[in-house]
Amino acid sequence: MRRRGHQAIDWVVDYLASIEERPVQSKVEPGDVAASLPLHPPATGESFDDVMADLDRVVLPGITHWQHPSWFAFFNSNTSGPSMVADIISSGLAVQGMLWQTSPACTEVETRMMDWLVEMLGLPDSFLSTGDGGGVIQDTASSATLCALIAAREQVSDFAVDQGGVQGKMTVYASSEAHSSVEKAVRIAGLGSDQFRHVDLDENLGIDPDALDKAIEADKAAGCIPTMVIATIGTTATTAVDPVAAIARVCQ
Ligand SMILES: Cc1ncc(COP(=O)(O)O)c(C=O)c1O
Repeated sequence: MRRRGHQAIDWVVDYLASIEERPVQSKVEPGDVAASLPLHPPATGESFDDVMADLDRVVLPGITHWQHPSWFAFFNSNTSGPSMVADIISSGLAVQGMLWQTSPACTEVETRMMDWLVEMLGLPDSFLSTGDGGGVIQDTASSATLCALIAAREQVSDFAVDQGGVQGKMTVYASSEAHSSVEKAVRIAGLGSDQFRHVDLDENLGIDPDALDKAIEADKAAGCIPTMVIATIGTTATTAVDPVAAIARVCQ
């Protein structure tokens, strides 16, 4: 494993060093990569060298290079040398962190890192694990939004939804520029997409706090239960930043 591991790291380092020589976007046609793969799983394993050769022959031509310095589509695919090395170590340890006992260091390092993040972002002390707060790393932005929405749903309903299911119209507010994962969370959380409100924007394409205020008041008058406002720091299409402080004042 040591020798093959070194070989794999060399492959990645060489790839990154020569990435500028490649076109940013893959030139293959749909189906080209699949056509290079056997239709059925091989009955026997192949040598490591053959697998590495397949990476160059089959996989690399079909890669669109997100780490290319001329990559300007969508958003950055966050990675770095340190994070790649950390991934190797993390995979090597391969612990499950669902309980403190299943790996004390996993729980305690994660908790302390989350507290560091609270400090680095200048969040209030109530976000710290030493009080009622404390973060947990989520696997994607989508599941982080879903977790936060479910927490809000239960806080607003005092855990009635957890027991009896959704009663009433629990409304959720976000910018009309918000990522589709926000509305998806509203659906998965069982609130219903009819309860999702796209709030009008200000001239900077962030949520207009007055429009938010009006939308919440109108919903309250109609008997809805305003449950959560989801602000975005850097929307996907325009990198607009919702005015979090003004939104918080409306919520309070
Ligand atoms: C602003 C924003 N939120 C959420 C997401 C969803 O991210 P993920 O794929 O990690 O669920 C994206 C992805 O582009 C995004 O740009």
